[in-house]
Amino acid sequence: MTKKKLQHFAENATFPHFFQPGFELLKKGFPLKGKWKNDFFHNNHPLVVELGCGKGEFTTGLATRYPEKNFIGIDLKGARMWRGAKTAHESRMTNVAFVRIQVELIADIFAPEEVDEIWITFPDPFPEKPKTKKRLTSPQFMERYRQVASTNTIIHLKTDNTSFFDYTLGVIQENGLSLLFHTYDVDQHSENSDFVSIKTFYEEKFRQKGEKIKYLKFLLNNTSCE
Ligand SMILES: C[S@@+](CC[C@H](N)C(=O)[O-])C[C@H]1O[C@@H](n2cnc3c(N)ncnc32)[C@H](O)[C@@H]1O
Repeated sequence: MTKKKLQHFAENATFPHFFQPGFELLKKGFPLKGKWKNDFFHNNHPLVVELGCGKGEFTTGLATRYPEKNFIGIDLKGARMWRGAKTAHESRMTNVAFVRIQVELIADIFAPEEVDEIWITFPDPFPEKPKTKKRLTSPQFMERYRQVASTNTIIHLKTDNTSFFDYTLGVIQENGLSLLFHTYDVDQHSENSDFVSIKTFYEEKFRQKGEKIKYLKFLLNNTSCE
């Protein structure tokens, strides 16, 4: 591991808004589960979660735009997340937190109905057929999100990957979920929209390769996906 990575890991541990709960703590019960709004954010604002947040530009970008909402970025890679956590710290943001955890464990850190909105930004596409269950928009993940989602939770997806985008449109259709909007090219829409204006690290990389950026949003309603 590089010295820089070690420094970032060490600094993450000093941030009051950075959490990396281990297995033992999750087993005992994560103390903020069901209490994020009261005990951490100290307000009753809607809670927006970004899954696979990487360097956290989307989480901090939305949090700057919407001070009347709370934001939590989730990812496994602490060295990447350090960037977002550092930005939130330097900008004294009070509506941002990061949790280093597998998305699979989302129901261990949030209580039923605690999450009001979900963003999935440039998820790993897992193109091989046997790995479709790992896709963050697979029916298996929808079931996990349903365990923590409030009524009318909207899920947003941004991706460069057309196959992943079409796969997600298929999951939405096959499971009778309500597609609210979709576009195969975000640049055809207002530069002011959230889904156009905030660009993540991976988005910039894909844009440099000439990829068109796709976006959709849908309602995670209460019918089962499995
Ligand atoms: C292609 S990167 C995109 C990062 C960021 N959203 C962006 O657009 O720059 C995908 C991210 O998802 C994270 N990820 C993938 N599967 C995950 C899982 N099951 N749990 C937690 N993080 C995951 C990876 O660690 C990685 O940082």
